[in-house]
Amino acid sequence: MPVRLSKTVRLMAEPKENVLMEKIVSLCKRRGFIFQSSEIYGGINGFWDYGPLGAELKRNVKELWWNTMTRRRDDVVGLEATIIMSPEIWKASGHVDTFTDPMVDCKTCKGRFRADQTGEIPCPQKPSKMVSECHGEKTAPRAFNLMFQTYVGPVQDASAIAYLRPETAQAIFAQFKNVLETSRQKLPFGIAQVGKAFRNEVTPRNFTFRSREFEQMELEFFIKPDEVVEAISGRVATAAEVSGGNIQHPTSNIQHPMGAAPGPRPPTLDPRPDWGWEAWHKYWVEERIVFYEGIGLGRSTLEEYWQKPEELAHYARACVDILFKFPFGTQELEGIAARSDFDLSQHERCSGKSMGVFDEELRAAWSKLDDAKKEALSRRYTEARLKYLTKMGVDQAAAEQEAKEDAAGLAKGQYIPHVIEPSAGVDRLILALICNAYSEDQMPDEKGKLETRVVLKFHPRVAPVKVGVMPLLKNKPDLVAKARQLRDLLRPHMNVFYDDAGAIGRRYRRQDEAGTPFCVTVDFETLEGAKDGALAGQKDTVTLRHRDDGRQDRVKIAELLPLLLEKIR
Ligand code: GAP
Repeated sequence: MPVRLSKTVRLMAEPKENVLMEKIVSLCKRRGFIFQSSEIYGGINGFWDYGPLGAELKRNVKELWWNTMTRRRDDVVGLEATIIMSPEIWKASGHVDTFTDPMVDCKTCKGRFRADQTGEIPCPQKPSKMVSECHGEKTAPRAFNLMFQTYVGPVQDASAIAYLRPETAQAIFAQFKNVLETSRQKLPFGIAQVGKAFRNEVTPRNFTFRSREFEQMELEFFIKPDEVVEAISGRVATAAEVSGGNIQHPTSNIQHPMGAAPGPRPPTLDPRPDWGWEAWHKYWVEERIVFYEGIGLGRSTLEEYWQKPEELAHYARACVDILFKFPFGTQELEGIAARSDFDLSQHERCSGKSMGVFDEELRAAWSKLDDAKKEALSRRYTEARLKYLTKMGVDQAAAEQEAKEDAAGLAKGQYIPHVIEPSAGVDRLILALICNAYSEDQMPDEKGKLETRVVLKFHPRVAPVKVGVMPLLKNKPDLVAKARQLRDLLRPHMNVFYDDAGAIGRRYRRQDEAGTPFCVTVDFETLEGAKDGALAGQKDTVTLRHRDDGRQDRVKIAELLPLLLEKIR
């Protein structure tokens, strides 16, 4: 049965009804995080819009990813490519032929389902039963290509067919040489991209988890093949040398792992010239987990899943999925694949343009190797190339000849880079952050009576609104003027929500539901001087209210901005 080019999905138990998920979906709509696309026309399955709070949350997440993956590193640069590209790209990548899911039709209810998910999808006519259990007559599974097809230009014939990209990765491979030449990077280095991807999923489900239009944040990190590493460094480090199992990340001990000036890196995570693909792969798995920790998804909410050999996509040497414990099951947030030299090799063969690099270090090192070493490395390189070429259907004699020529390139300092790919979905991460943040607790209302409050405990870094600014009363011009001044002071540095409507307790609750970590209230003590505490008698102080525990501190206005900046960065 043809399988989707990307890794197969491992299905985990999903409760038929999920009360928590219902509450989350309802909150997302009520507070303007996520709406159904085209809702006024009845909606369109698998497409979602982000409302005012959702758009801010998404923007924060993408910016944090971008800053972490590119701007705070010397060895990664960015790319922003088009969504529609030459269809040849998708032939070379294998998507035209193999990016398929197995699909069955039910002749009884006319529904269409992913064949590998019929045990988890309720029958549309008898929702108490799963599609696999109901009595509807099903067709045999058949392959369904997930790419959305369109036409470029006015003539809608086969020569005008194009596809909406199903992943952002291929543009990076297609532009690899241009980026290499213009950025003056040297291997190992990466190219990062954030952007839309489209997949005509047979059964989009679990809210935004599996959508038909979504965004990806992908890094293609290009590394030297192991034979090249060994020629230059004399050895290839084992993965165990990277971490010794449980990496102590440099930044996990400090308060702000993704702060502007992270602490020094420990030697175990300092990339070394003798790192081969296994070491780099492990490094990126750890880097990505640290990223998630830094935005509030602690290790206890995540799982690492090392794919079994039989689960790997045909191009992958290894793949680790980072899974999040969603209310509907533990499911993939990100995949980190070691993609070998498959992609660049394919684009080289299909486009006829060289995707190889010249590495002066290799050329110099090779000339100093003894014959036995040269022979051993050439043999290994030839074998790897031969394996790839024969797998892609090149006939044996031609493949042997080509593989030998490729290995001969090593002496001249030439080779095709290998790739490690951390590939994350923005929308899945947004959903994970909302699920992780959702909390209900008891808090006293204005009269001291306990009431249930819904609160989104976002990490301040991702929170859509960082601070709510409020005058205690809206009919006191002095309070209002001061609060507006404060809003204008903070606004250039963070997203501020100004609110003067309703009782202060209600305003706090509204911000709790939006996930705003701080509220600042301008009250009579601001104007007249604090009544008690360390700042007693001082004017120009405000109440700083903390979302998670409702704690209220008295803070000088002059100290507010640095205090908030320290917490949100
Ligand atoms: N370039 C590799 C690649 O695209 P993938 O596992 O198919 O690999 C990577 O996708 C990530 O994109 C997934 O881990 C997931 O977060 C996100 N993703 C994939 N399909 C999705 C969908 N239909 N809806 C939402 N996110 C999706």
